[in-house]
Amino acid sequence: MEKEKTLAEIKKELEENKSVPLRESNLVFGEGSPDAAIMFIGEAPGFYEDRERRPFVGRAGKLLDRLIGDIGMRREDVYITNIVKRRPPENRDPLPEELSAYRPYLAREIDAVDPKIIATLGRFSMNYFLPDGKISRDQGKVFWWGEKILLPLYHPAAALRSTSVLGDLEKSFKTLKAVVIKYDELVRQRRGKSSAEVSGDKEEQTSLF
Ligand code: URA
Repeated sequence: MEKEKTLAEIKKELEENKSVPLRESNLVFGEGSPDAAIMFIGEAPGFYEDRERRPFVGRAGKLLDRLIGDIGMRREDVYITNIVKRRPPENRDPLPEELSAYRPYLAREIDAVDPKIIATLGRFSMNYFLPDGKISRDQGKVFWWGEKILLPLYHPAAALRSTSVLGDLEKSFKTLKAVVIKYDELVRQRRGKSSAEVSGDKEEQTSLF
């Protein structure tokens, strides 16, 4: 209940904030279980998301639902959000000033849900965590971000355009399932390492996968 209340407060603040860009579009806030172990973070809403005021409800969303189902979960079990929470015109890429205006809200949303695993969808949300990350190099790799696991994934929209990207995304969902199962063990193993072995870096790649 506490998490739901915090999320509702963040949403309300964002609704009332007249200084953020893209105010001409509808607010599309995150949705799903506030107690989710997995949080998916996309880029920005598109046409259907703007119309329904819900994230990932268009074609890319349908593919995301299918991939979540393939690992034995339901959309209601996870939390789904975007870095930019209003649709950019003509679905163009979000601008740096749009990304920076919405970043603090994403940070608070992550704090509120406090998921064990963050799966980013596409390069914009990956770069929130890994500023120097490259999607083709880093997707499907498992990183630590504090005590959370970070798993960068290709954006499902890219997978709709390329069968090879779809194949990689499906493979990465298998990694996601393995991470869900092994999360507690991974945390224990990491805590058991000496401080010399564990770097202070927030984004440290785990070698177990
Ligand atoms: N693409 C995104 O990045 N987010 C959505 O919500 C829909 C499509």
